[in-house]
Amino acid sequence: MYIIINSSHLPLQQRRLIIHNNHCHLLYFIILIFLFFNNFILLCNAQQHDTYLTHFEDPSKGLTIFDSYTYRDGTILLQLAHFNEDESCIDPNLNLDIVFPNGAIKPLNVSSYQIPIYNYCMLDDVFINSIINEDTILITYFYGDNAATTIHMGMIIDWDGNWLQNIELGIGIGKINININDDSGFMWTRQVNDTTIAWSQFIPSPSKPTEIKKIGSGFISISPLSIITSFQMFTSSDGGNGFTLVTKIQKSTDYYITDPIWEVHAIFLD
Ligand SMILES: *[C@@H]1O[C@H](CO)[C@@H](O)[C@H](O)[C@H]1NC(C)=O
Ligand SMILES: *[C@@H]1O[C@H](CO)[C@@H](O)[C@H](O)[C@H]1NC(C)=O
Repeated sequence: MYIIINSSHLPLQQRRLIIHNNHCHLLYFIILIFLFFNNFILLCNAQQHDTYLTHFEDPSKGLTIFDSYTYRDGTILLQLAHFNEDESCIDPNLNLDIVFPNGAIKPLNVSSYQIPIYNYCMLDDVFINSIINEDTILITYFYGDNAATTIHMGMIIDWDGNWLQNIELGIGIGKINININDDSGFMWTRQVNDTTIAWSQFIPSPSKPTEIKKIGSGFISISPLSIITSFQMFTSSDGGNGFTLVTKIQKSTDYYITDPIWEVHAIFLD
């Protein structure tokens, strides 16, 4: 597991980025980060395969980590960003780096003219960057006038930062789930309303892995007596796609005299 510590609250001259490869339990890490963040030290039980990679960025650029994604071989895709004064926007450029498991860092020069400028101020949902396979990287952004009609877009680039294609992922602000099997591509999902989730699946073309194609889409709906309170996607070890839904039966009749009933569903897509 790679843990990236963003040291943006530290004085400029100390600002740096630590990437730590280890096998500690996640919970253990969260505690450590809280305890040691101020001292800017990260400790963990020494393990045989621990590696530290320390990379210094020019402090005058004022960069912090905006997004990170770890590919299954340990390669990390990082997006660094410089925030404006009130932290409502980042500077309008992509600033992507690939960090290889051997510590080599490759900055990508990605042409981003097709990304509307307001994306750099939609800080919560935009730029869910992911590595799809050994040929392609997905950068997501939005195209449209308002949240209801906005098109969630995917820009596909190669590992050198060259633009390959744009794809429409779906309408509205969705989530991305990359399958553990490269051939199974990725899913885009969005909760449409209280009872429905929309999904679309994209895979690399079997004959041309640099080309990403949409191979299916649909809805998952539950009984109108319930509401979906949260959902997550997961992939099975054989590359299947599934959802877990947490739903709550609404207390709509006198029959329910106690608290509403909560249910958890696990649904697999074929
Ligand atoms: C990035 O690409 C643009 C457009 O191709 C080019 O003008 C610019 O010099 C490149 N920058 C770097 C740092 O390579
Ligand atoms: C939820 O969205 C689905 C898909 O657009 C639609 O078929 C369904 O009628 C909607 N349900 C409600 C309660 O609005």
